[in-house]
Amino acid sequence: MWRNEAKELAYASFHLAMLGLGVRMWRPTLARNLEGMDIKQPLLVMLLQAAARGTGSPGRIQATEIGCLSGHASVGMLQGMPSVHLTLVDPYESTGVDVECTPKSNAAREDPMGTMLENVKPFLDRVRFLREFSFPAASQVADESMDLVFIDGNHTYLAVREDIQAWLPKVKPGGLLIGHDWNHWHPGVSRAVLEAIPPYLLWLEPRMHFWIYQVPGGRDAGLAENSGLCR
Ligand SMILES: C[S@@+](CC[C@H](N)C(=O)[O-])C[C@H]1O[C@@H](n2cnc3c(N)ncnc32)[C@H](O)[C@@H]1O
Repeated sequence: MWRNEAKELAYASFHLAMLGLGVRMWRPTLARNLEGMDIKQPLLVMLLQAAARGTGSPGRIQATEIGCLSGHASVGMLQGMPSVHLTLVDPYESTGVDVECTPKSNAAREDPMGTMLENVKPFLDRVRFLREFSFPAASQVADESMDLVFIDGNHTYLAVREDIQAWLPKVKPGGLLIGHDWNHWHPGVSRAVLEAIPPYLLWLEPRMHFWIYQVPGGRDAGLAENSGLCR
């Protein structure tokens, strides 16, 4: 029991420290029926909507997910946002330096790539899959072509730093560069992000631990208004 409390305390202290740095909290209102559920997918859909507002893209939305594992988040985005075209990047090759990331089902644990391909099958016309590490994959994507880039691959400091360097130029003006696992379990994530982006330009989603940065030069993405799909 005390372990959970210690974790809660560490987590709360971490957030207080981030607020002290000027990081803003993004806490969109969620539909009641989502309370207590895995809200990663709906939050990602809301972020895609915010990115579309920011870039002013009326129709087709371009997004990249770095580290797609068994396709859980990918499917949520494809289902929830019919206008999204997703580039999925994952080498399916462990470097042995990152934290463990374990899919929930047995099938996904045994064959994450096969599970991902099966999961995205109904949406193949909107999916491009690059079986690559993040850095080489970036060279296959045009600059300023993405409404949203979602960094969720290797969570070490050096890898996240490299991801930001490689992928920030890929985001359109007004689009969003976002990432997962900004928390005290992955200190490399916040370190790399805070080195690259001033804290007062960052948003933090406290329930699912997303960090969010809107690239300057576009329209208001509406992050301050807590608006979105799940009202
Ligand atoms: C936390 S899991 C991703 C979870 C997924 N985004 C989701 O929400 O369902 C991390 C994934 O990143 C991949 N990965 C690790 N290093 C990577 C790198 N350098 N570039 C791209 N993907 C990487 C791993 O193979 C793993 O599938």
